Amino acid sequence: MTASSWVAAWAGLVPPGVDVLDLAAGKGRHTAFFAARGYRVTALDRDVSALVPSDMVEVIAADLEDGSPWPLAGRRFGAIVVTNYLHRPLFPALIATLQPGGILLYETFMEGNERFGKPSRPAFLLKDGELLDLVRGRFSVTAYEARMISQPKMAMVQRIAARLL
Ligand SMILES: C[S@@+](CC[C@H](N)C(=O)[O-])C[C@H]1O[C@@H](n2cnc3c(N)ncnc32)[C@H](O)[C@@H]1O
Repeated sequence: MTASSWVAAWAGLVPPGVDVLDLAAGKGRHTAFFAARGYRVTALDRDVSALVPSDMVEVIAADLEDGSPWPLAGRRFGAIVVTNYLHRPLFPALIATLQPGGILLYETFMEGNERFGKPSRPAFLLKDGELLDLVRGRFSVTAYEARMISQPKMAMVQRIAARLL
């Protein structure tokens, strides 16, 4: 389970000692990455079968798209990591779940990815500049890319590392 090169590159922005949220954590590659670096991590996914709770890792099973209330209401995290997942209606709750000064590390597929395969539906692909639009006026942006990548496979991705003001 290799961490995204983007997450690994910008993880140093996350202050020591804060709680980290790995949203749509999957098999938990970023949960493991941050837990190994001493962070308490909350890993949330609708399928938590591959996620192992520990004293450093809280596992939450929740469907983020079935109309249920936001499962982290009232919680705040010092960093939120989202990779290879997009459900636009969550954007307001996601930002509300970052504490002031918190770090957002977000990387997912963007339009143009159709030529390489899935995801190819517009609902799963960021539009040009969409992550910048999401954070504009609310975050300080440390790094942003919209590009083709070849590893771990050919894809069009957009990614951002930003700090909530
Ligand atoms: C492509 S995987 C990415 C996993 C992880 N972020 C990574 O990059 O390794 C997408 C994840 O989103 C989760 N997911 C999809 N729809 C979801 C939903 N409605 N509620 C919660 N999780 C969902 C899937 O279970 C899966 O683990």
